[in-house]
Amino acid sequence: MLATTKEMLLKAQAGKYAVCAFNAENMEMAQAIVQAADALRAPVIIQTTPSTAQYGGLHVLYAMVSALAKKTGVPVALHLDHGDGFPLICRALREGYTSVMIDGSRLQFDQNAALTIQAALVAQASGVPIEAEIGYVGGKEDGLSNEAKTGLTDPYDAERFVKFTGVDSLAVGIGTAHGFYKQKPFIDTKRLAEINSRVGVPLVLHGATGLSDHVIVDCISNGICKINFATELRAVFTEAVRLTLSGTESIIDTKKYLSEGREAVFELAKKKIVLSGSKNKV
Ligand code: 13P
Ligand code: ZN
Repeated sequence: MLATTKEMLLKAQAGKYAVCAFNAENMEMAQAIVQAADALRAPVIIQTTPSTAQYGGLHVLYAMVSALAKKTGVPVALHLDHGDGFPLICRALREGYTSVMIDGSRLQFDQNAALTIQAALVAQASGVPIEAEIGYVGGKEDGLSNEAKTGLTDPYDAERFVKFTGVDSLAVGIGTAHGFYKQKPFIDTKRLAEINSRVGVPLVLHGATGLSDHVIVDCISNGICKINFATELRAVFTEAVRLTLSGTESIIDTKKYLSEGREAVFELAKKKIVLSGSKNKV
């Protein structure tokens, strides 16, 4: 069933595990994610960025994910990832998204807080929980953002930010970046522990592609309750399609190669669900 991220993340916080949030860009990816969650009895979040929303249409993405969610017994949330402004938040809420992120992390503290408060008011009034971000996650997510910048979250700022804005979850900058890492990142789990001790809400890890299993487990034990995976899913999907099509020009049935992408995402999503500890948490 379609669910919000509110209860999902609070349960994860209490149980010291994380819920996987997978970015989906087409029907096959969304199907693979729901099938993986269903197979492992795990709550799951499907998320879409502004550029995916522009590509597919919020209404189409909602129709697709809610239809998939209806046919499974596990909770599935549909989340707007990196919502870049108030108008898009309102549109996602109107379409039926069950979770939203307002990303004002490029702004100064006060401006970020002002934008976040505005978005939080409208989301929470609609019964939809909201994620915000303070500090930078570096790299480039789907055409958006904070290129090359990586700003670590100040624990004291994080505490003030959550108090001011009343958000339901908080994305933090602890050294991760979107996309594949060019060199081994230093993930500041000490900082994460300090943020977690000051902030009561579930914490969110962006840029999980390429992190070692050990780092991910460490982050979960220090307060991370939602982990975002995007690039890795795209990569295995594309690789599987490429492999299927390579050396042949006879395949023209799109189902023949997109189903290979779907299978690859299904296998990867299952691995991440097991790693996050959310298996059998329904
Ligand atoms: P990756 O692309 O590094 O997996 O990051 C995902 C993410 O943070 C989506 O918001
Ligand atoms: Zn992100």
